[in-house]
Amino acid sequence: MSTTSQSASSPTAQFGTVFADRLTRARWGVDGGWGEWEVAPVADTTLHPASHCLHYASTIFEGLKAHRGGDGTVRIFRLPDHVARMQRSAPPLHLPVPDERMLTEMIVEAVRTNLDAVPEAPGSLYLRPTLLGVQPNIGAAASPSNEALLFVLASPVGAYFAGGALRVEIETLQGRTMPGFGTVKSGLNYALALGPIGRAKAAHNASQVLFCPGGRVEETGAANVVLIDAERVVTPALTAEFLHGVTRDSVLSLAADLGYHVEERTLHIDEVIDWANRPGAEIALSGTAAVLSPVGTLILDGEDVTVGSGEVGPHTTRIREEMGRIQTGREPDRHGWLTAVTA
Ligand SMILES: Cc1ncc(COP(=O)(O)O)c(C=O)c1O
Repeated sequence: MSTTSQSASSPTAQFGTVFADRLTRARWGVDGGWGEWEVAPVADTTLHPASHCLHYASTIFEGLKAHRGGDGTVRIFRLPDHVARMQRSAPPLHLPVPDERMLTEMIVEAVRTNLDAVPEAPGSLYLRPTLLGVQPNIGAAASPSNEALLFVLASPVGAYFAGGALRVEIETLQGRTMPGFGTVKSGLNYALALGPIGRAKAAHNASQVLFCPGGRVEETGAANVVLIDAERVVTPALTAEFLHGVTRDSVLSLAADLGYHVEERTLHIDEVIDWANRPGAEIALSGTAAVLSPVGTLILDGEDVTVGSGEVGPHTTRIREEMGRIQTGREPDRHGWLTAVTA
C-alpha cells in the first residue's frame, strides 16, 4: 500500500490520500487504437511535462466504489453506469472513448489485484478511472491530443465528509461550470468551482457551495442535492447543467422502494429555503464519495438558515442505511446494481 503516512484502515486518513499498490492502465496511440491493458505498480506511472492534459486540460475521470460485504465478498456498485458515464465524458474533451468491455475489465481487475486493500464497511475501495491526453506537445493548444493514457487507481477510503451535518453556502450568481458542460466529469469543472468554494469556506466555514444560478437549483461542487421529509424526496430534474449522479439515481430508486413519493422537477432556491424552515425537513448531498451526507445549515446572503432540526435526520439515515445494506450484500440486490469480484 502506498500511503502518505497512515494506513488505509485508519479512521483518520483523509479521503483520497492512501492508495493501493497497483493500478490497471492502457494507452491509446497515434495509430488511433487502444493497446493491451496491463496491471502496473502505481509508482511506475509517469507523465511527460509537456503532456497535453497538463497544459490544455484534456482530462476526464470517474469515481465509483467497491464494498466488502458481511460475507467477505467484494462487490462493485453500479459499474456499468459509471462506465457509460465515462464514455459520455470523453467526446466533449476530444478524448478517445474507452471501449466498454476494456474499461469494465480494467475496473474489475483494479479491484481484484488490490482485494486485500478493500476495507471493512463502512470503509470501501474508491476507484478512480482516469483518462488523460498525453501527447507531449505544448504546441497542441488548438488540437486534440493524439495520445491518451487510461488508468484505474484504487484508494481505500472512509468518510468523505467527516463529522456531522454540513454547512452549505448558496451561490445564486454563478454556475458551477460553463453552460452545457455540467454533465461532463472533467477536472476542468472542478477547477472552475474552486473560487466560490474557497470563498465560502473562508467567509462562512462552509464545506460546500450549492450552485443556483439565477435561483435555479443545480448541484454542489462534488454532489447532487436532495430534499427529504417523512413523505417526499425532491430533487432537480436532470439537465445539461449538472452531473447526473449515479447515487442520486440510486437514492431515488430506494426512496420509491421505501414508499416515499419521489419528485424530479425544477427547483428554485426560495422553495429550498421554505423547505429548510419546516419542522422535519431534511436536505442531503448525494454522491459516491458523499454517500448521503446531511446538510444542517444553508447560508444565504450571509445569513444562516437551519435545515429542520439542524441535525442528521431520520429519513436521510434510513435511505443511506438501505443503500449500505444493498452495497454490502446484507439485502438482496433487487436492482441488479452489484458486480462481485472474486480472487
Ligand atoms: C459535481 C458532482 N456532482 C454530483 C456527483 C455525484 O455523482 P455520483 O453519485 O455518480 O458519484 C459528483 C460526484 O462524483 C460530483 O463530482
